[in-house]
Amino acid sequence: MYGDGVVTGHGRIEGRLVYVFSQDFTVFGGSLSEAHAQKICKIMDLAVRNGAPVIGLNDSGGARIQEGVVSLGGYADIFLRNTLASGVVPQISAILGPCAGGAVYSPAITDFIYMVKGTSYMFVTGPNVVKTVTHEDVTMEQLGGADTHASTSGVAHFACDSELTCLARIRELFRYVPSNNLADAPRGAGTDPRDRRDEALLDVVPANANKPYDMHEVIRHVVDDGAFYEVHADYAQNILCGFAHLGGHSIGIVANQPAVLAGVLDIAASMKAARFVRFCDCFNIPIVTFEDVPGFLPGVAQEHGGIIRHGAKLLYAFCEATVPKLTVITRKAYGGAYDVMSSKHIRGDYNVAWPTAEIAVMGPKGAVEIIYKHEIAAAADPEAALTAKEAEYREHFAHPYLAAARGYLDDVIDPRETRPRLIAALDALVTKRDRNPPRKHGNIPL
Ligand code: HXC
Repeated sequence: MYGDGVVTGHGRIEGRLVYVFSQDFTVFGGSLSEAHAQKICKIMDLAVRNGAPVIGLNDSGGARIQEGVVSLGGYADIFLRNTLASGVVPQISAILGPCAGGAVYSPAITDFIYMVKGTSYMFVTGPNVVKTVTHEDVTMEQLGGADTHASTSGVAHFACDSELTCLARIRELFRYVPSNNLADAPRGAGTDPRDRRDEALLDVVPANANKPYDMHEVIRHVVDDGAFYEVHADYAQNILCGFAHLGGHSIGIVANQPAVLAGVLDIAASMKAARFVRFCDCFNIPIVTFEDVPGFLPGVAQEHGGIIRHGAKLLYAFCEATVPKLTVITRKAYGGAYDVMSSKHIRGDYNVAWPTAEIAVMGPKGAVEIIYKHEIAAAADPEAALTAKEAEYREHFAHPYLAAARGYLDDVIDPRETRPRLIAALDALVTKRDRNPPRKHGNIPL
């Protein structure tokens, strides 16, 4: 049946060409037939040839069971195109109903997945088959609802309240991302003065280094008109990722979040940020990193879960990125996390710190307990000895000036100056050219 189950075409978002397919659940549950697959492949080919994004409105039970391997072949044709288009044109997936099988694997290869609360579901297969195979009783919502995927699995980047909001959010994304890997990202239309100093930034970081604060505040006070398009807002909230404009430049922001788990890097945070960094790098969007990180999260669960491999993803992603990279250390930059978070050593272009920054191998307490273990144990008053050594360590290491003296920082700046400083750096980096050695591709630790 030609035309079955899917509508395809092209249109414009704020004047920019986009290709769209939309599946129709009323036709065999939106499942993918041979003709259905061919129609999707056709617009994907056109999109790549014309350098335009692809938006998929998915509402499908996956491969059409009645068509057998022909349908499986159809999905494989789509997966191949998703993969070859990756990093060439942005690919966006909206999940607008119960989706299974190929209807989740194709979106999984795309750049961003939007779901709708209460009506959209993603699973390899639905609750009935789960019951037969694993004997688990689970609802559609628990197994693969919008909240599950936006906050627990991390499969979805956005959980929207309605289909209208979902479509509006997708349109909004195109304020920040270019149409393809050779096009410039759109400039922001805001009127926020480029030389705006922000007094509030002086008071964001608490005097007590162990007190949390909300990194959203820092972002809001720095970017144009306080507008932050947050990605994966409900998942791995110890790191923030999202888009903004800064002096009109479209930027990707990666920021540790001291208000959640002290901003520590764990498996989920590393994977979330690594994928975001790679998206920005694919599409030439400069990355601005706000850093306040006590290190990688230790512990059995993290080690057994592979924090070494997953943490290495973020390291790899920042190392390989050749877009302009700007870093502001607001407070802690400890240990391996100092290296990872877009440090000078891994080709950071503009690295600055606030005077409140502490750049060291580890925090004062942990450090003195290791290096002065014997002296502290032998002291008449070990508690007082520990406090004294901590103070000494703080004096020597817990500041940004050693890093600045070595050239690892370009400057220690007044927090109020953050916005104009970053904008000046972005202006200067517009013509940046850098590339990695010629090779087939690198081997990111997946
Ligand atoms: C043909 C299908 C279908 C399918 C649903 N329908 N899925 N027809 N092929 N894959 C039909 C149903 O028969 C029904 O037809 C109508 O669509 C609505 O389905 P319901 O089950 O009544 O709807 P609902 O209760 O909302 O459940 C939706 C669902 C469920 C969760 C998607 O239908 C489901 O689990 N389907 C199978 C999903 C699946 O296992 N797909 C994997 C395919 S393998 P009538 O005529 O009664 O209205 C695959 C390979 C890709 O995709 C490779 C991956 C790497």
